[in-house]
Amino acid sequence: MIDISSLYQRFQDELSQVRASGILEQLMQKYVGKQGEVTLLLKNLVNVPIEERKIIGGQLQDLRQTIETALEEKLSHLEFQEITAKEAQESLDVTQPSHTMLGSLHPLTQVQHQLVDVFQSLGFAVLRGPEAESEYYNFEALNIPSTHPARDMQDTFFLRSGVVMRTHTSPVQVRAMEKYGAPLRMIVPGRVFRNEALDASHEHTFYQLEGMMIDENLTISNLLAVMKLLLKEMFGREIKVRLRPGYFPFVEPGFELDAECAFCSGKGCNVCKHSGWIELIPCGMIHPKVLEYGKIDTKKYNGWAFGLGLSRLVMLKYKIDDIRLMQSGDLRFLQQFAF
Ligand code: DAH
Repeated sequence: MIDISSLYQRFQDELSQVRASGILEQLMQKYVGKQGEVTLLLKNLVNVPIEERKIIGGQLQDLRQTIETALEEKLSHLEFQEITAKEAQESLDVTQPSHTMLGSLHPLTQVQHQLVDVFQSLGFAVLRGPEAESEYYNFEALNIPSTHPARDMQDTFFLRSGVVMRTHTSPVQVRAMEKYGAPLRMIVPGRVFRNEALDASHEHTFYQLEGMMIDENLTISNLLAVMKLLLKEMFGREIKVRLRPGYFPFVEPGFELDAECAFCSGKGCNVCKHSGWIELIPCGMIHPKVLEYGKIDTKKYNGWAFGLGLSRLVMLKYKIDDIRLMQSGDLRFLQQFAF
């Protein structure tokens, strides 16, 4: 005779001992799994006389059902307990102060954005060009033939025959002329590369901002007016400028534009080496040969261009005394420009 109630009692006793969901699986196997006690009893019913079989079979089925339900209930109870315990351990206090460090824009990027704003308000397009540039655009089309000594002025990284790391942003001048024709106003902020002996004022990678305007009857006064506006926006006040002759094969006449030292207002200090002036923006009227390379009708149009040393301007603006800090990735440096 099968004692169903004591079997159930035994199951309940064992169930009450279970404290972890993993153990429940074993209990399930023991009673109602393939080789479980209740399962085997059901299988063995074939040996029981038919009348008894019906009654015991029904009772065993009920028992199996009851056990399975009890197991399920216990499982969800245990899982709930386990999750609650885990949550208590791993609780997240959203009121705790955050230790996340916010990033900020590099000073170069900040100044670049400022300049882009100024020029966009004057109707200048903002263009980009390739950093790995052909010798043609970097030199030839800027009136620097391969035999010209001016190629020596820029220590060049040669990649392979005919391709260099651009030594300035000027190659975008002829690219832009070819693409957009005249009239044209554009600036090109970007990275340039030179094979320099590194020191506090020389870096192999630095930033320039090229500018160019092509139209009818442009004059040096137009160029000067825009340069003055640029400096006023940058330093927040009127800055005196002066032009000295400067040689660049792609401009004629070519100039060095000096700005009155913004730190001593021209009186003379360490930054301007006591001259009161800072050499800031090389510029000039675009050489007709360069316009011709860009397929511009030189009878109708002329132009001016400048190549601002962006890294240099940022160093002046923030009194940074070593250009190598700019690309150092040093947070002590960068955090000073966070806002
Ligand atoms: N590309 C020259 C350099 O990097 C700077 C420059 C001079 C650009 C005169 C100009 C310019 O557009 O007109 O040395």
